[in-house]
Amino acid sequence: MTRLALVVVLAGLVAGCDQNMDEQPRYSDYSRAPLFRGSVLRPSPANTIARDDPEREKAAHTKPALTPELLARGKERFGIFCSPCHGGGGDGTGIIVQRGMPRPTSYHDDRLLAADDQHFFDVITNGYGAMYSYAARVPAADRWAIVAYIRALQLSRHASLDDVPADERSKLEAAP
Ligand code: HEC
Repeated sequence: MTRLALVVVLAGLVAGCDQNMDEQPRYSDYSRAPLFRGSVLRPSPANTIARDDPEREKAAHTKPALTPELLARGKERFGIFCSPCHGGGGDGTGIIVQRGMPRPTSYHDDRLLAADDQHFFDVITNGYGAMYSYAARVPAADRWAIVAYIRALQLSRHASLDDVPADERSKLEAAP
């Protein structure tokens, strides 16, 4: 009798393990979810952008026109994202470098003076050696703005008075 009871209990246990995976408690894609008071498929949060969004790709391949607004934006973004290591003037002596980060090549180095805009854009996008990628933090349009500002920084040490527009030149000459 006890043996029979044991067999019955074991059979019950074994049957209990045989839960069909098709019948597991889960939602199918379009079913309603009481928790969300709507479909299980939640709408994307506002301003969500797909990784392969064509606009994103386009921004990466379209260099914007050089305007004072672009330079101002680049200056601001450079101050936030790059100057901590590269320093305000681009010499590579920012505060993080002073605290031990390897010193990057100065933007005023001959090699970087000769490098094209795309090189700077690519370094921000992909990182370079010890420098990590800023692609997730700096959108493509802002990368171009930063590149424009770096060009301005480089020019600032190699410009002559002839590069200054006439109306601005008089202001410079009037300065003490
Ligand atoms: C946390 C520090 C850090 C920050 C922030 C940083 N960089 Fe760098 N960057 C480096 C270091 C270090 C190197 C040198 C890497 C190497 O040679 O291994 C470097 C190298 C470079 C180079 C030179 C590449 C070459 O050809 O030698 C460029 C250009 C550059 N960074 C641009 C930027 C820009 C633009 C930003 C802001 C979006 C930025 N970096 C932010 C640390 C930083």
